[in-house]
Amino acid sequence: MQILVADHPLVAHKLTTLRDASTDSPTFRRLTEELVTLLAYEATRDVRTGPITVQTPVAPAEGIKLTSPKPLVVPILRAGLGMLEGMTRLLPTAEVGFLGMIRNEVTLDASTYAERLPEDLSGRQCYVLDPMLATGGTLAAAIRFLVDRGADHITAICLLAAPEGVARIEQELADLQIPVHLVVAGMDSHLNEKGYIVPGLGDAGDRLYG
Ligand code: PRP
Repeated sequence: MQILVADHPLVAHKLTTLRDASTDSPTFRRLTEELVTLLAYEATRDVRTGPITVQTPVAPAEGIKLTSPKPLVVPILRAGLGMLEGMTRLLPTAEVGFLGMIRNEVTLDASTYAERLPEDLSGRQCYVLDPMLATGGTLAAAIRFLVDRGADHITAICLLAAPEGVARIEQELADLQIPVHLVVAGMDSHLNEKGYIVPGLGDAGDRLYG
């Protein structure tokens, strides 16, 4: 898995405010959107394009356009929903599919409770949105789900990740023959005994919607 930890003062500044326990929900939601737009800029560096020629008022100009099939953006409910607006602001023509997943807070196992995705994802580039990559169980299952449907290029965008979760994904998805990328605003130190990222930012779903 190719991992990019965004290295930019605006990303670090917004992430710091998200971490702050005194940041209220409206501010947290707005900053999440802004942060995702910055991350999306990096994450879409290899979005598929083809050549096109346009006519400027002066002369023909060679350019590019996004190619078909459209990229698919997949927010993982619930917290990933808070990242959708920031992503589609940069990629407005993308199709959006939904995966509802919940982590059991005792066993830390992830399970899927809702799914609204195209049946056939053959040849599709997919962008998975989930703020937190903790044990990695949720993201590993989501990526496996998309690959089983035929997706051939996956980029996950997360606000924070823990090294344990990254290691788990690399181990569980080692058999995949397709590119899997991860773009994060920050890589934190470790998980605590409850499976929370430390120092992290708490429960992203609760801070967005609680
Ligand atoms: C959180 C988070 C990720 C998952 C990460 O969601 O948004 O989806 O846990 O944990 P993992 O890497 O250990 O699997 P949660 O299950 O709390 O659901 P929510 O989005 O509805 O709050």
